[in-house]
Amino acid sequence: MCCVKFKIKVLILLSASRCATGALVLAAGKGTRMKSDLPKVLLPVLDQPVLYYILDTLRNCMASSKGCVGSMAVVVGHRGEAVQEYLSSDWPEAVPLWQHEQLGTGHAVQIAKEWWSGLDHLLVLPGDVPLLTGSSLSNLVAEHVASGADCTFISFSASNPSGYGRVVRGHKEIAIVEEKDATEAQKALTEVNSGIYIFKTSSLLPHIYRLDNENAQGEYYLPDIIAMMARSGEKVNAALAPDESEFSGINTPLQLADAATALRRRILRRHLSAGVRMQDPDSVWIGPEVVVAENVLLEPSVQLWGRTNVGRGARVGSFSILRNVVLEEDVDVVSHAVLSDSVFRKGSQVGPFIVVRDGAVFEENSRGGKFVEVKKSRVGRGSKVPHLAYIGDAEIGAETNIGAGTITCNYDGKKKNPTTIGDRCFIGSDTMLVAPVKVGDDGYTAAGSVITQDVPEGALAVGRAKQRNIEGWAKRTGKK
Ligand code: UD1
Ligand code: CA
Repeated sequence: MCCVKFKIKVLILLSASRCATGALVLAAGKGTRMKSDLPKVLLPVLDQPVLYYILDTLRNCMASSKGCVGSMAVVVGHRGEAVQEYLSSDWPEAVPLWQHEQLGTGHAVQIAKEWWSGLDHLLVLPGDVPLLTGSSLSNLVAEHVASGADCTFISFSASNPSGYGRVVRGHKEIAIVEEKDATEAQKALTEVNSGIYIFKTSSLLPHIYRLDNENAQGEYYLPDIIAMMARSGEKVNAALAPDESEFSGINTPLQLADAATALRRRILRRHLSAGVRMQDPDSVWIGPEVVVAENVLLEPSVQLWGRTNVGRGARVGSFSILRNVVLEEDVDVVSHAVLSDSVFRKGSQVGPFIVVRDGAVFEENSRGGKFVEVKKSRVGRGSKVPHLAYIGDAEIGAETNIGAGTITCNYDGKKKNPTTIGDRCFIGSDTMLVAPVKVGDDGYTAAGSVITQDVPEGALAVGRAKQRNIEGWAKRTGKK
């Protein structure tokens, strides 16, 4: 036992030392070119913030034995409270570090020194490169460690280099020149800086405070450290990436839209190659957190967002929008369904034209039909709400039928009240169930009833005015 414990301890120590690489994500900048009130890193791409993508890549790297990133921190500043709130709710492993004044990317690395100085290697990444993949990142770390370099950064050949820092290679030198500081000849260079670097921290430390801000933007540029290190005889490698598409930064609304297009295509391809069928992939939108099983059919113009999980054999019909929804096996969403935060158990069928929301559950083989809204309610096994109904705050048992036009009157103007309907009930068409109210098992309500009192088990409730026929009325009143 003692020996096992010891072995585990050694393994933990070994993996900790192997993974003494930390990732620092820079996310404090204003994003001036975006002209938005939200900080740039929180602007949505598909249904997640820009920052989600790099953090997700890093989280996967931290979980995999190959990636070898052991910890991560995010520099926050402009509208930093909002960014910090996002981090603490979705990325508790990311340490927020405050850069109160945004004096440049080099300054952002300076203020984080306490966090990184104890590490062996420091990865620095911009918060606005959502297309970066885990394999490029782990290749960078591996290449850097294997080569023994003091700094390795990713460069790429840009079809449109404007806005990027240009990589200027000389006889034994290398430098990055920001566009605003570049000469016309330098601007013509197409090899650019991706903004992704990895440093041996012992080599970074003596240089990081030597940066100055004597440049066109009056900022402490991190890229200046490249020439500085190279000049001091440190080993600096520019790893030229073969494919530019992963490294596009997001600085303008156009780049934001282009990134969304690229990410969307990547996600669709992943699902198509895993056995999800789509009749018109160009019209389908799927968020990055969505899980879809094999043998699923997504019809044209479907949107799946949030933590939606679609089970084997399910179909999602056209013009349906699902957010945080679980569809178990063989669920059929016919079409035009707006479903959120709800669960549909095996074999249930809903739509067309249905809204289901706020924690609703459709149990096995139940049905929700045309022009129906179900909110925070359970529809029991094999039960049906086939047409024109509002079911809110209700528990419906098994094998019950809810007639067309039924409404749970759940709101008394102050609070929401519950309705409970038992097993094998038959709720007649156009029943108003004035909550709080209960219908016992095998209970019936007559069509058009206003039910204000509980209905006992097996009873028929008739809650409507008795019909009166006035003979000869039309003739007498001259209507005919
Ligand atoms: C930066 C690089 C450029 C590179 C490009 C790649 C600098 C000076 N330039 O330019 O060489 O080609 O990225 O995309 O680094 N940030 C902070 N604090 C600050 C300033 C910025 O955290 O004080 C953050 C931003 O929020 C952003 C990242 O650093 O996530 C990069 O800043 P950004 O202004 O986008 O730099 P670029 O002009 O794109
Ligand atoms: Ca940028």
